[in-house]
Amino acid sequence: MLKKALITGAAGFIGSNLTHKLLDKNIEVLAIDDFSSGKINNIPKKHKNLSLNKMSILDENLEKLIMDFNPDITYHLAAQISVSSSTKNPLYDAKINIMGSINLLEIIKKLDQKHKFIYVTSGGTVYGEPKNLPAPENNPIEPLSQYGASKYSIENYLKIYNKLYQTKYTILRLGNVYGPKQDPHGEAGVVAIFIKAMLTQKHFEIYGDGKNQRDYIYVDDVINAIMLAAESNEFGPFNIGTGIGTSTNKIFSIISKYCEFSDLPIYSKPRPGDINKIILDINKAKKEINWFPKFNIDEGIKRTVDWFRKNVD
Ligand SMILES: NC(=O)c1ccc[n+]([C@@H]2O[C@H](COP(=O)([O-])OP(=O)(O)OC[C@H]3O[C@@H](n4cnc5c(N)ncnc54)[C@H](O)[C@@H]3O)[C@@H](O)[C@H]2O)c1
Repeated sequence: MLKKALITGAAGFIGSNLTHKLLDKNIEVLAIDDFSSGKINNIPKKHKNLSLNKMSILDENLEKLIMDFNPDITYHLAAQISVSSSTKNPLYDAKINIMGSINLLEIIKKLDQKHKFIYVTSGGTVYGEPKNLPAPENNPIEPLSQYGASKYSIENYLKIYNKLYQTKYTILRLGNVYGPKQDPHGEAGVVAIFIKAMLTQKHFEIYGDGKNQRDYIYVDDVINAIMLAAESNEFGPFNIGTGIGTSTNKIFSIISKYCEFSDLPIYSKPRPGDINKIILDINKAKKEINWFPKFNIDEGIKRTVDWFRKNVD
């Protein structure tokens, strides 16, 4: 039974949804976030089981904080998450996603061997443009962006830390996650960006012709996968998506329906590093961790629009 959890990136989109879930389960949470994109309002201001720390995963004080807390499990979500930022500033991307993760692993290896590490990486970018879709986990790894490369590199480091220090881990390769609390101001997260723009009548564009497809997965399904991974002894990697591709044009049309938005989409040039079509084969997660997505894209977007209507700032 888990009692103490460390979450990096706890104030972010997925991290804050996970923080709420763990607190609901009466688990003590050490939350770390540098608030570079995360929001203080995403997590409870005061909670008896929550210790919130504004700190980078590169900070030299990280070790003392973690060793004093002594978690049973670490959910590592802190990251630079934008594909286009990674192509513009690959050094910054590598600093956070590679160096920051290694800094954390160097601490984790000193914890009790029962400790477990959950790593979320990007099923939407690590495979590049797969020849066969949906792409299974053994599809060749051929990222087309520095973000895909940096996220994948930690999968290799985890194998090494397991061999050298017996670090236990599970890797989840997430599709395009969407849902409540996603940042609508960032460069990633088309669902949040479109919803916010439609609700506030702000200008926005579709990069490319809108025919590109992604495997969109609702955040509650992702949190459920993370919870099942925590209980499992499997290393993964596990694709976490729906196994269904949805085009940006289709996303635009579903969001328009729930936002009662009647303008036509405006198209602009595709962005470097963006992938044309990715759909994930999710059979391994179904078989090995008994995970099944519950929300289809229409229901997930409906819930997300409802949340943004109440929380739009
Ligand atoms: N959202 C998606 O579609 C998606 C898909 C695949 C994988 N992921 C992965 O899931 C994780 C969470 O992504 P998200 O969508 O919630 O993004 P997010 O930007 O909302 O969350 C990331 C959090 O990390 C924090 N952070 C960034 N740099 C940090 C640092 N140096 N030290 C401490 N905290 C730092 C940010 O402030 C933010 O709160 C990331 O690892 C991302 O790569 C996300």
